[in-house]
Amino acid sequence: MKHIILMGFMGCGKSTIGYKLSYKLKKCLIDTDSLIEEKEGISISEIFATKGEAYFRNLEVACLHALKEELDTRIISLGGGTPLKEENRGLIKELGMVIYLKASPETIYERTKRNNKRPLLQCENPRERIEKLLEERNPIYESVADVIVQVDNKQAQEVVDYIAEEILNEVINH
Ligand code: S3P
Repeated sequence: MKHIILMGFMGCGKSTIGYKLSYKLKKCLIDTDSLIEEKEGISISEIFATKGEAYFRNLEVACLHALKEELDTRIISLGGGTPLKEENRGLIKELGMVIYLKASPETIYERTKRNNKRPLLQCENPRERIEKLLEERNPIYESVADVIVQVDNKQAQEVVDYIAEEILNEVINH
């Protein structure tokens, strides 16, 4: 294993869990959305609004290629749509152990409804959009994942402890 990659739908907790896991394991956290925002000098919402989604998706590809150069073990938190491009799926898997943080549409809706930073959910009926996108994406997430962790009704710290103590310990000790 090289890096630990957190993957999943918007609002599943990748950033919070990534932050706490990075603290617990004393490994640096890389958040691909933040890397892209830093590189472009504008927010994800502004990138979508001024340059479009396709442009953003290409930035995600470039970001994954750049991460291949990262030598030390990192916790990597991906954007929810990063595995959508087929070429990205192989790139993600090559980076290390992929953990899919799996959440139900209800959990996602509850966690995202008060946040306006996600352009794909700024629509008339975000709940319906979540269900539709999740239905399309779930098989993709499952095909890329090495491990699936259910996050519904769990506190972030609980998930972090489970990943560190059950999943990673298992990998390290075998
Ligand atoms: C997206 C998820 C977002 C961000 C962009 C698109 C998606 O990241 O990359 O708004 O397509 O699911 P988070 O999953 O961190 O919200």
